[in-house]
Amino acid sequence: DWTPAAFVEETIARIKAQVGNKKVIMALSGGVDSTVAAELVHKAIGSNLYCIFVDNGLLRKDEFELVLDSYKHMGLNVKGVNAKDLFYNALDGVSDPERKRKIIGGLFIDVFTSEAAQLQDIAFLGQGTIYPDVIESVSVNGPSATIKSHHNVGGLPEKMNMQLVEPLRFLFKDEVRRVGREIGISEVFLGRHPFPGPGLAIRILGAITADKVKMLQEADAIYIEALKDDNLYDKVWQAGTILLPVQSVGVMGDERTYEFTVALRAVTSTDGMTADWAHLPYEFLAKVSNEIINRVRGINRVVYDISSKPPATIEWE
Ligand code: XMP
Repeated sequence: DWTPAAFVEETIARIKAQVGNKKVIMALSGGVDSTVAAELVHKAIGSNLYCIFVDNGLLRKDEFELVLDSYKHMGLNVKGVNAKDLFYNALDGVSDPERKRKIIGGLFIDVFTSEAAQLQDIAFLGQGTIYPDVIESVSVNGPSATIKSHHNVGGLPEKMNMQLVEPLRFLFKDEVRRVGREIGISEVFLGRHPFPGPGLAIRILGAITADKVKMLQEADAIYIEALKDDNLYDKVWQAGTILLPVQSVGVMGDERTYEFTVALRAVTSTDGMTADWAHLPYEFLAKVSNEIINRVRGINRVVYDISSKPPATIEWE
């Protein structure tokens, strides 16, 4: 019988045996998987685990600072790397979704390898790969057409010539959460919605600018906070805002405005493979719409996405 307690004990022993007194490097994303994986490795080898958390400028509002702080509180040996400008420059003028993903994935590897190169004697690469990632990356690279090239698996090891430490490789998401709970990881981490590796880049349709990122971060923060306030956050699989590349006419006071539209997305799902749009209460949507339009400069219209997957996808890009 599988229990989190037994899994934790066995896994820590296995990591100790595998790594010995060598060093492990690991990239953290702020998500459940990499956090739980890192904490397991940390429990096994302590400060011989070196964590890197990259700010690509495409995270949610204040996320980088908050998450970095939580990692430090957990006692992880973590370095925050501000690489915003690098990502914004490389993405300048790019509007094709797959090119955005490739650029972001490639840059991430560059930043991570250069951080690794500054450390001595790193022998292992830790990763928060879970079982569905293993299956999905097989099918992504297989004969069937790639729908979207997810960049959070694969990629790193080939280039880096290190052995892998993947404590979650045979677990499903709900088991990862149970393990996380067992080792005392905060519910704030464990209950988080999934967030795509390319971040807000694939929620800004068209070319990305620092101003558009700011605008979307503000709208997104209002939406997510409202979901939490109204106890809706835990009832949906994932939620977020999308900045559309169209401007439309509005009126503010007695001024005509010509500003952007934000789409709200919320879905229910069990695995992200299929999803239904979440039937959020009208009063809630009305409140969020008012708040966004009143508080976020540059946005004068809010719409709600009522498409399910398939045939739509969760993300718009
Ligand atoms: P879609 O849009 O394909 O999304 O219905 C399914 C789930 O995958 C996430 N997603 C990504 N995650 N890198 C990631 O790490 C990506 O490029 C990527 N694209 C989509 C999406 O947020 C949803 O949870």
